Amino acid sequence: MAPEERYAAVCKTIRDVPPRKPFFIQISDTHLFEDPAARLWDVAPDAMLDRTLDVLLAAAADPEFVLVTGDCSGDGSRQSYLRLRDKLNGLSAPVHYLPGNHDDPVLMAKLFAGRELAPHAKLVQVFDTCGWRLILLDSAVPGQDGGCIGSDQRIWLGKTLEAAPLTPTIVAMHHNPLPVGSAWLDAMTIADAEPLLKILDGAAQVKSVLFGHIHQQFDVRRNGTAYMSVPSTFFQFKPRSPEFAGDRGSQAAARIVSLSGDRADTVLVGADGSMPLTAYRQ
Ligand SMILES: [Fe+2]
Repeated sequence: MAPEERYAAVCKTIRDVPPRKPFFIQISDTHLFEDPAARLWDVAPDAMLDRTLDVLLAAAADPEFVLVTGDCSGDGSRQSYLRLRDKLNGLSAPVHYLPGNHDDPVLMAKLFAGRELAPHAKLVQVFDTCGWRLILLDSAVPGQDGGCIGSDQRIWLGKTLEAAPLTPTIVAMHHNPLPVGSAWLDAMTIADAEPLLKILDGAAQVKSVLFGHIHQQFDVRRNGTAYMSVPSTFFQFKPRSPEFAGDRGSQAAARIVSLSGDRADTVLVGADGSMPLTAYRQ
């Protein structure tokens, strides 16, 4: 579909659930490689990201910020990060990145946050905007597919939540903190999810927990909090499959989150403009 056709499709469908300002955009698992022409599983990550960004420019221009929930790179290369930054600059908004299992957190900290991160240290981030607090956790463990939060980061999370108990909050990380019913993915989730969930369960101000990693749409409620993934911009995995399986029938997508009061309403927008897939109203 040509960009102008996608634009028309988006304008037709987004009427049902228009992004209401202020809003932000979540994308995930862009998986860019050092070589912009690289393909994996016969899919080009660069081209797929470009399609998603075309739709976002048409359907969700002028976000407050963009959140990238990990696997920003497929190979941890400097060139992949620089190219991702260039592409996302087209959305004309601040971009916040957190690391996934394919990323290099030390390099990301340097390039995206201007920070020197010690090897194996966690890239924790927090910022306040539009009356909300955003807490970005680092679940990546270098050299491993699975994730871990770690006791130091959990202590930091607890203190950061305690510091603003009345501020509506969104917590984001790369790995899924809850099982998704797919054995091979649930074998590489967050090793210390239980104590993490205990902290989140006890924080009534946490309205949503956003993540990537599973390359598919997933929405569930736990203790009044919405736990939601966003599909990859690159390649989708088949839901509930016991072993690795691609899902070529599902499309790349981005999540748009509108913030008002203590409500976070979201909608997924697909890269072919034929969404919304789902609208989630709190
Ligand atoms: Fe990924």
